Amino acid sequence: MNITIVGTGYVGLVTGACFAKLGNNVTCLDNNKKIIRNLNNGVIHIYEPGLEEILREAIKKNNICFTFDKKEAYKNPNIIFVCVPTPQNNGGSVDLSFVVRASREIAENIKKEVIIVDKSTVPVGTAELVEKTIRELNKKISFRVVSNPEFLAEGSAVKDFLYPNRICLGVEDKKTREILKKLYHPFTLSGAPIIIMGRRSAELAKYACNAMLATRISFMNELANFSEKVGANIEDVRRVMQTDPRIGNKFLYSGVGYGGACFPKDVRGIIKTAEENKSELKILKSVDQVNEKQKTILLKKIEDYTIIKNLKISVWGLAFKKNTNDVRESPAIKFVLEAIKKGAIINCFDPQAMLEAKKILKESVNYARTKEEALREASVLVVFTDWDDFKQPDFKEIKKQGVKAIFDGRNLYEPKEVREQGIKYFGIGR
Ligand SMILES: NC(=O)c1ccc[n+]([C@@H]2O[C@H](COP(=O)([O-])OP(=O)(O)OC[C@H]3O[C@@H](n4cnc5c(N)ncnc54)[C@H](O)[C@@H]3O)[C@@H](O)[C@H]2O)c1
Repeated sequence: MNITIVGTGYVGLVTGACFAKLGNNVTCLDNNKKIIRNLNNGVIHIYEPGLEEILREAIKKNNICFTFDKKEAYKNPNIIFVCVPTPQNNGGSVDLSFVVRASREIAENIKKEVIIVDKSTVPVGTAELVEKTIRELNKKISFRVVSNPEFLAEGSAVKDFLYPNRICLGVEDKKTREILKKLYHPFTLSGAPIIIMGRRSAELAKYACNAMLATRISFMNELANFSEKVGANIEDVRRVMQTDPRIGNKFLYSGVGYGGACFPKDVRGIIKTAEENKSELKILKSVDQVNEKQKTILLKKIEDYTIIKNLKISVWGLAFKKNTNDVRESPAIKFVLEAIKKGAIINCFDPQAMLEAKKILKESVNYARTKEEALREASVLVVFTDWDDFKQPDFKEIKKQGVKAIFDGRNLYEPKEVREQGIKYFGIGR
């Protein structure tokens, strides 16, 4: 198949690389020239375990190319995957301008019959909007629009794409359905079903999944804060909950709130879409509120412990979760910006997200080269991201560096082990 991927971000680049790995002929289009130039020079702008190897192999086999030239990208595809951003507008509604712009560019450039697949997370009705936008500009070419929401998670995106739990297709006609089933067939060999439905259901299913996962996180965070008040330990509570097969063990970890480019905007997006359709999603409104408050919890704990002005704080982790360089809506970034405003002095480290963080934090903080260097002169250590490298630090060494208190935003450490070194320990809900 000739496949064109529109948008080479976390979803687009992984999608393109994985389809190329299976022998398809993939063209990745991005309107960011720097990204394309870098990719053509072998420099990948996102960090995803396993991605570099797959891309290198696909490039060697000539199965993938990168371009910012729309004419070239839309010259010959059988299928176009739209993987452009769908950020939130002020007020929380979904900004569909990237999707509409991509639709116009497709309309202006396609030369032959094509299937257009929405992979971006989009509100119910967007497939129809894409169809209308293209039809208005191009009356000649035959095309179909399909909804195929993506469920990969950053940090395990390649694995998630190659071995999905399911493939969701919102497709209205038989011929298109059969073509896509064939394309996805190799990904179903490990048992994943292809679940077929109408486009509107597929669009809603994606939001439903993210909203459910976000709900579990906010539920556990609210319960963690309550545990602290009553002298219970949320980690023990979780251990009981997760052994109930009806509950399971995923997304039950209390922490500093969810971040990233998906959960926050998707929860708000579905709330807004519901409002536009005269529905109210009360539970999700609370999920969002609880999360926003949770992102401030470590700052509040530090302020309860000491005076923040001129406090030297070491921050471990800037990415919103481990195994990614993504800092969008990261609780760590929010914390750092607030702490600086209040006069704190920050020395930070993240194994992958320093460059992305620097785009936001600029020169307002010190960027350490290692987690050990980030400790220098700090009296407080705050841990935001659950990178494996942070999980078993040398507490004796941390103490030697002068750290008097650890604020563990991920409940990574045994409080007793930390306290035995004469360091104060503050976790979440314990
Ligand atoms: N990141 C995730 O984990 C994830 C998972 C599932 C779904 N999604 C959804 O997938 C979509 C993409 O997310 P992402 O994180 O990959 O975004 P991203 O910001 O990482 O990448 C999007 C890319 O699209 C490019 N782009 C924008 N308009 C374009 C156009 N007209 N032509 C060519 N390129 C264009 C941008 O330059 C950018 O490089 C969003 O709707 C998101 O909600 C994301």
